[in-house]
Amino acid sequence: MGIAILYEHPETDELGIRMTAKEMGLDLTYIPFHKIAVSISNGGYSFRSQKKNYFKTIDSVNAVLNRTQSKNRRLYAASFLEAIGKYVINPLQVESLCFSKFRTLVEFWKQGIKIPKTIFIPCDSHYTTSKGRTIHNEEKIADLITNNLGERNIVLKPDAGTHGYNIMLVNDRNELVKILDETEPSIINPVGFVAQEFVKKWFYDLRIIVFKERGTPPHCHPKALARAGFKDFRTNTYLGNMVFGINLPLEVQKAAIQSSKAIGGNSETWLLALDAMFNIGEEESVDDIYIKDQLEKLVIPFDAVKKVKKDDKKYENFAVWNENLESAYQHYKDTEAYENVRTIIEESTEKEKNSILFHEANSCPEFWEQTRIFTEMNLAIQLLKCAKSVEGWSIYQRVRENKYE
Ligand SMILES: Nc1ncnc2c1ncn2[C@@H]1O[C@H](COP(=O)(O)OP(=O)(O)O)[C@@H](O)[C@H]1O
Ligand SMILES: [Mg+2]
Repeated sequence: MGIAILYEHPETDELGIRMTAKEMGLDLTYIPFHKIAVSISNGGYSFRSQKKNYFKTIDSVNAVLNRTQSKNRRLYAASFLEAIGKYVINPLQVESLCFSKFRTLVEFWKQGIKIPKTIFIPCDSHYTTSKGRTIHNEEKIADLITNNLGERNIVLKPDAGTHGYNIMLVNDRNELVKILDETEPSIINPVGFVAQEFVKKWFYDLRIIVFKERGTPPHCHPKALARAGFKDFRTNTYLGNMVFGINLPLEVQKAAIQSSKAIGGNSETWLLALDAMFNIGEEESVDDIYIKDQLEKLVIPFDAVKKVKKDDKKYENFAVWNENLESAYQHYKDTEAYENVRTIIEESTEKEKNSILFHEANSCPEFWEQTRIFTEMNLAIQLLKCAKSVEGWSIYQRVRENKYE
């Protein structure tokens, strides 16, 4: 029984997984999750595009890497694939917790992991009754938030958002009410509002990789990705922040393992990228002006990396594009400024190791363009190893016979 990868459109990570599988001599089957019909009836199931029937393809694999980009579609893919006895990485249970920031934090909190104080308010800011009257809840929601977090430094987040999108730092009640008023229920924010205390985290946060193969305990990769910049409190790389590879203190690795166990539960294998920050308050050890100056020196080599990333050649010749990416990053990493900032971050993590807070678990993390290069770990290898670890093993004691419709 083999391994499959499922996605809508191949992006760098999926192309990277395919290239890695080839290098590892693994036969990786492709299952589309776009313009196909998944049909279930009491007679069985079918999985078809207009031209092709994928039943035999799916039937021949037992583990599926779920790389559909939309969080919602990943849930649908996982729920169907598990129903027909496939092992999905990540499993539905993990995917479902990672879908929501609040649900993830509840699991962390249950296990005593340090988190930013978080408020969830299950209420729409406004709605129209069946009699046509508009009800406004903005003031009440604002009260509930400020009663818990105070009037200043409130972080508002879409519960199911990603890439820092629509995450706002609010400093004033009028602004808060205005934002609440402008927020409509949406597919990424379907259930209400998540507000969080603003963590004084200096200029970076961490992306930490933890994984578990069947039959072995969870493992935290000792090198993490730090995302850094002063322009915005959101340090997502998607927003143009710079990246650094740092060695993690043992205490942080242990905390990351504990956090990921809270999400992985009893699942046999999984792979997660945890977002974490240090609550360092005002205790900065190095002058910001010096760091800003060093980051400024990195702008040109980092822009060169961004230029390669945007280059569409990756779709024509991925291997050549990948070499260009690696050489642009090497140039950036070889600079003195890179090593200077990297050392400052590493020293800060050692000093602050006990003030780490975990705030998010990502089930389908980016890994080819940044994580691989800075943490010196190709997550594609690990994902494929996780899939291999469940070879010949079924999620059911007794597999339901899959009938072809
Ligand atoms: N409570 C907070 N205090 C300070 N910074 C935060 C807080 N929450 C998020 N951030 C910053 O915003 C970024 C995005 O937030 P995150 O919760 O990870 O959502 P997303 O899913 O959009 O990445 C984080 O990487 C972090 O730098
Ligand atoms: Mg994040």
